[in-house]
Amino acid sequence: MAPFAPLVSGILMLLWLTASSRACTCVPSHPQTAFCNSDLVIKAKFVGTTEVNQTALYQRYEIKMTKMFKGFQALGDAPDIRFVYTPAMESVCGYFHNSQNRSEEFLVAGQLWKGHLHITTCSFVAPWNSLSSSQRRGFTKAYSEGCKECTVFPCSSIPCKLQSDTHCLWTDQLLQGSEKGFQSRHLACLPREPGMCTWRSLRHRMA
Ligand SMILES: *[C@@H]1O[C@H](CO)[C@@H](O)[C@H](O)[C@H]1NC(C)=O
Ligand SMILES: *[C@@H]1O[C@H](CO)[C@@H](O)[C@H](O)[C@H]1NC(C)=O
Repeated sequence: MAPFAPLVSGILMLLWLTASSRACTCVPSHPQTAFCNSDLVIKAKFVGTTEVNQTALYQRYEIKMTKMFKGFQALGDAPDIRFVYTPAMESVCGYFHNSQNRSEEFLVAGQLWKGHLHITTCSFVAPWNSLSSSQRRGFTKAYSEGCKECTVFPCSSIPCKLQSDTHCLWTDQLLQGSEKGFQSRHLACLPREPGMCTWRSLRHRMA
């Protein structure tokens, strides 16, 4: 075994180097897609300190949930969500919370895994105050109306065309160079008639 030791440690070194130099990359998503693809969507305050578990390589933030928009059924009779879990390292998409403000409310959309809420840096996590009023209406009610039938379909390079009547072409990145464009901030892809979805403005909707 001994002669192989340097080789093995060399390989480990190489793995470590490639792992640590590879940054996490996220595919941007429209808030409706984030809503529909998440098990749990809540409003919460980050109230506590971070705890890192060195064995499991995750860290958790203590939160206080102030509202739940999605996940009633998934959660069942599980207890209140008191923590949000994320990988401990940025290279594996760990989320790092920057705000120290414990009374600031955040929208958090994540996955439920063994009764715990999990997020990564690719998850939709944003200060509630930074959302447009249309987005707040979307998370509160409207986005859920589109989850079953409609799909926000990202168009990132020309030409892109609709593949289905239930898709809405999302061109923010192409036209505005950002995933935070007009369609993101104001529109939802909703059923118009059976088998057909279109973009609808949420700007003048009642919540
Ligand atoms: C860390 O995670 C492991 C595995 O999930 C668990 O058994 C252990 O109790 C955790 N340690 C702390 C200090 O929470
Ligand atoms: C913290 O957040 C609350 C609610 O958003 C806001 O009213 C307050 O001004 C913030 N405090 C600081 C120090 O930023």
